[in-house]
Formats: sequence, structure tokens, C-alpha cells
Amino acid sequence: MQQDSSALLLADRLRAEVRSLRAGDRLPSSRALMDRHRVSPITVSRALGVLAAEGLVVTRPGSGTFVADRPAPAREPADLGWQAVALGDRAIDAHGVRWLLTPPPEGTIALSGGYLHPTLQPTRALAAATARAARRPDAWDLPPLSGIAELRAWFARTAGGDVTPADVLVTSGGQQSLTTVLRALLRPGSPVLVESPTYLGVLSIARASGLHPVPVPADEDGLRPDLLAEAFAMTGARVVYCQPTSLNPTGAVLSPERREQVLAVARAAGAFVIEDDFARHLAIDPTPPPLISQDGDGRVIHILSLTKSVAPSLRVAAVIARGPVAERIRATQLVEDFFPARPLQETVLELVSSPGWPRHLRAVRTALKSRRDAVCSAFARELPELRVNRPTGGMHQWVRLPDGADDVALAEAALRAGVLVSAGRPFFPAEPTGPFLRISYSSAASEAELAEGVRRLATVLTG
Ligand SMILES: Cc1ncc(COP(=O)(O)O)c(C=O)c1O
Repeated sequence: MQQDSSALLLADRLRAEVRSLRAGDRLPSSRALMDRHRVSPITVSRALGVLAAEGLVVTRPGSGTFVADRPAPAREPADLGWQAVALGDRAIDAHGVRWLLTPPPEGTIALSGGYLHPTLQPTRALAAATARAARRPDAWDLPPLSGIAELRAWFARTAGGDVTPADVLVTSGGQQSLTTVLRALLRPGSPVLVESPTYLGVLSIARASGLHPVPVPADEDGLRPDLLAEAFAMTGARVVYCQPTSLNPTGAVLSPERREQVLAVARAAGAFVIEDDFARHLAIDPTPPPLISQDGDGRVIHILSLTKSVAPSLRVAAVIARGPVAERIRATQLVEDFFPARPLQETVLELVSSPGWPRHLRAVRTALKSRRDAVCSAFARELPELRVNRPTGGMHQWVRLPDGADDVALAEAALRAGVLVSAGRPFFPAEPTGPFLRISYSSAASEAELAEGVRRLATVLTG
């Protein structure tokens, strides 16, 4: 992070310098730039890389770096008005998802975000796994279309029950899996039942695909089977999307009795259950096995992504399904995406089969536990009147604000006070049941930072 910002700073300085030179002029040597700007060789090489990517300089190995030929002067801006007419009235609302993926401004504490802070990511193990994967002679060849065999076997073992490697399709992360599955299962215009509240990214996919997400209330024991039955009857829906373990945003875990009931209700409705098991490797306390391990008739379509337990750019996941639906999902991925990049699949395989993998998972769980506890203590100290849950896994806590509070305005005010939190409203497919904030404990740098973040939030809420 530090390295990137110093490279960008140096690139800014060099850009100004390059403008005062003529095409073909030679830039000072890397050594001279290091001495002059008191930076490391990596910073110099990254800064020159930035300028080369912008077309301002060219590097000739062995000779040095030179000012590139000047680009032709910019033409008049084109009139693109016709595009609005051609595109018509269909818009893709990426606002919520973009917001989830935007890093906090410098100096702001992140109590939002759905990935591990870099200090919790297995950076070294990942680098070693990437290097080993890249050395495989077939690393860049076509992979088997459903994913490399050993990786499919690993996903099958992780899911448990009677899942076999043949049931596994390797995909490019959770978000792509959800898109592929929803597109495979449903025509535009169809209803899809979702927990309320739910992951806002699935709402974005559903709406962008012309589906109608229909809320089914979830309480502290997860999705309510009685209301699920009613929603199936009312809408004729054939699909329910749920996160039985550590629901994002509330952290709820579907209780064992309800697991049976949800499956029975779906069976009675002739419907599929999409199980987004995003928090499988983020359990603080023991959590139930995945729903798919209880599935006897191909009803559950299970999604497990590696981005959450490793790093956001390890964009590899699995969709596990059986029967004709598995064929439909495979065909959809093939048509839309071909297959996930083989080097990434090989990297995941190297990582999860290395001796450090169980150690990494233990370290993540331990860190998440103390972070969750740090947030609970900070709330008890700073905002004792608020109700905050104590999730048994995942990354998020759900905070009930006083009646009448405006969660969106409060989240904006919190950002101005230097802490990024998520307003609860976008997580509801329709009317929210009250004002909430989602607090993430995975993305801040430390427990001290989490405590400071809650302190800043308190100044906004009590000020
Ligand atoms: C519940 C849930 N599902 C799926 C995703 C998508 O994750 P990814 O595409 O990084 O695997 C997220 C990301 O925030 C999530 O919270």
C-alpha cells in the first residue's frame, strides 16, 4: 500500500519532468532517480511502469528509459448523444456493488467491506503458491472445462455429505457464480425469493438480470420457514437464495431445525435452494455443516468462494449441483465465460494443499474472534444503549439504531467523521424493518483501529 503510494508520488514528479523534455531524451538512470528522490529501486521501477503504461516513456533494456513520441493532439470531443437513444431505458445499477468495492479515503477507518485486511491475508503462502502454479508446464493450457480435477475433489471434500468431484464446477468467484446460477435457473421477469435483509450484491445481480427479488424475513435464527412457504405459494417462485451460515449482513445462522424445514418447504414448492456459503472458512464458533450435505434430491445449489478466506483477487469459487440443473449451470458458464483462468485454479490448488493452509485458517478464525470481541467491547463502552449482535462467524455485525434514525444519513456523517460503515437500507430488497448499520470487523488494520472506528461512530451518533 505504502509502496504503491510512493510509486504514484514519484510518477507524478517524473511526469512533470518528462513534459519539460523532448521526445527521445533519455531519463536519468534508475540509480540516479533512487538517489535524487530517496526511494527504493522497486519504487523507481513501479513509477516508470506507470509512465510507460501512460505512453509517456519507453524503456529499452540495456539502454535506459526515454521520453516517448508525443501523442497527436486530442480531437474535438465526440458527440455520443446517439448512444443514449440506442441503449434505451435499461440501466444497470452498480451503485451498491461499486460502493462495497471502493477503498476508504486515506485516514478513514474501514468498518465496512467484505474481505480480510491485507495483514490477515496469507500473502507469503499465496506468493509461493502462485510461483509454483506458474512453473507448471501446462499452467496456461486449456483446463478441463469444469475445473482441474484435484481442485474439484478438494471442493467436494470441503462441502461434505455425499458430494463428489463430478458435482463440482470451478468458477470465477462468488459474484460470478451467483450471476451464472441465477441466469441458468431463471428467465427475466421471474421472482426469486431472498432473505430480508440479504447481501446487496445478489440484489444487484437479480435486478440487472430482470428478476424480481422477493423478501422473506430472516430473524436471529435465519430464514423463517413459515413465511418462506407463504412466499412460494404467493409468488410461484422456483428458487430461493439464502446464506444459511453467517448471513451477510446480520450474521444469523440457520438453526438445525430450520435447515430441515427450509428443505421441506422448498421440496413442497418444487423449488431450488441456492446456498451461498461465503463464510464457510470464517467460523469463530462451530457452525453447522453446509445445507448441501443434507440434500438428498439435488435441491441445493451450493456456492463456496475462496476470496473471503484468502484475498479478494483470488477469484476462484465452486458451484456444486446435481442432475439436469448442474448441466444447465455448466452450459451457462461455458457459453458466457468459457472457464476460469487455469493459473488461478492451479494457485488455489497449491495453496489449499500446502501445509500452511490449516494454519492460515486457524489464524484467521482467531483474529476474527478477537476482532469481533473488540467491536462488542467498544460498543458496550461507547454506545451501550445500542443493540449489537455477537456473530459466531463471518465478517459482519448488525447494529439496530434507535427508531426514526436515518441510517443512510448517519453512514454519510460517519464517513465525514473518518469511519466507513454500511447503512442497512440497501441490504433490504424492499422496505427495511428499521434503521440498521452493518459493521465489518475484517477489513480494519487492527483491534485498536476497530475501537477507534467505534469511538468515531459514537461521536456522530451521540453528537
Ligand atoms: C454473501 C456474499 N456472497 C458473495 C459475495 C461475492 O464474493 P466474491 O465474488 O468476492 O467471491 C460476497 C462479497 O461480498 C458476499 O458477501
